[in-house]
Amino acid sequence: MPSAETLLRAEFVDLEPSGIGKVVIQGFGDPEVLPLWVGEGDTPTPEPLRRAAIEALDRGETFYNIPRGRRELLAALKTYLERLYGVEIDQGRLVVPGSTMLAVAFAAQMVLNRGDHAVVVTPHWPNILSVFEMMGVQVSFVRQEAHEGHWALDINKVAEAIEPGRTKALYINSPCNPTGFILPPADVRRLMDLCRERGVVVFADEVYHRTVFTGDVAPSFLEVAAPDDPVISINGFSKAWAMTGWRLGWLVAPAGFEGQLSTWSMALNTGAPSFTQFGGIAALGETGEPIVRELREGYREGFEIVRRRLGQHPKIELRVPDGAFYAFPKIKGLTDSLRFCERLLAEEKVGTAPGYTFGPGNEAHIRLCFAMSHEKLDEALRRLVRFVDRHL
Ligand SMILES: Cc1ncc(COP(=O)(O)O)c(C=O)c1O
Repeated sequence: MPSAETLLRAEFVDLEPSGIGKVVIQGFGDPEVLPLWVGEGDTPTPEPLRRAAIEALDRGETFYNIPRGRRELLAALKTYLERLYGVEIDQGRLVVPGSTMLAVAFAAQMVLNRGDHAVVVTPHWPNILSVFEMMGVQVSFVRQEAHEGHWALDINKVAEAIEPGRTKALYINSPCNPTGFILPPADVRRLMDLCRERGVVVFADEVYHRTVFTGDVAPSFLEVAAPDDPVISINGFSKAWAMTGWRLGWLVAPAGFEGQLSTWSMALNTGAPSFTQFGGIAALGETGEPIVRELREGYREGFEIVRRRLGQHPKIELRVPDGAFYAFPKIKGLTDSLRFCERLLAEEKVGTAPGYTFGPGNEAHIRLCFAMSHEKLDEALRRLVRFVDRHL
């Protein structure tokens, strides 16, 4: 009899846990651990957004919805995106699956065939590789580099990595997890032009769109794309409104596929939970804006704490993130980032993510999320420095 292993997709059998998962599993739920390892803070979603969902539940909003998303939510999203980016967006292009993560998988299912080639801008969020690997996609990387104490991307290198007739997709996440890099508006336009010309679909992961330290919103592919351009903008509620546990995100697809988007939403999960969608509606309107600003201010101060603790350390090279809420320091003498994070957890009860999991060339890095409340963040960093001083 054939074993399960021979019957399952090879891509599934070969899936590896990410380095974040490998560390988290060793300390998850331990109340003594100060967790900087995943992308969220430690304060619950603000009350007005929680209330919107509680009221929806109390009204009995517990039934199936339109799978692509409730009409009011799609309308609120349209209004939000149009206000933010000053462009018109047809509601038929919007989908609200159960999470941003699911929106990424949805986009991959829309576009990719086994054997396709994709270019991924790195250092990158590890889950994107799991998705691409699961689809049987071959990946090439283009690395962001140091530039005046920040991170930058050379668009010429992206152009070189796109192979005519072979490359099907480009994944770019701006503001970037883990580097905080933000693609400048001129480069957004150049990349859109390049991908249009070469028949490459842009996976524009814009989930940190409001977590920017200059201005109010990061440049978006939606600002430069024509409705039928090959770009899928992926976004969600987790980061801007501190709604990670709600599992609510959206995507904007090229125009002309409303029927297919509806059919696949139906088949994939028949839409996001009803009552959570009311939290999303509240977030996108006036209620949400002060929340976005207040959270962002907290993250900005969080980075200042990181800068104070790590910025002058002789063994630590810290680059300044322009957005998102991660620091991705390089630690001199570090050669095994997973072992470093495991020992830091065991000895100091601080949870961080090992650099290697963010792509090639990052073994000397660790990622830490500075969205945590400030006193705890400061204490976690104090312990991190103590650990570095002891071991390196
Ligand atoms: C770059 C990036 N894309 C997508 C996601 C997924 O977001 P969600 O938790 O809303 O599914 C994350 C989560 O950390 C992320 O960092």
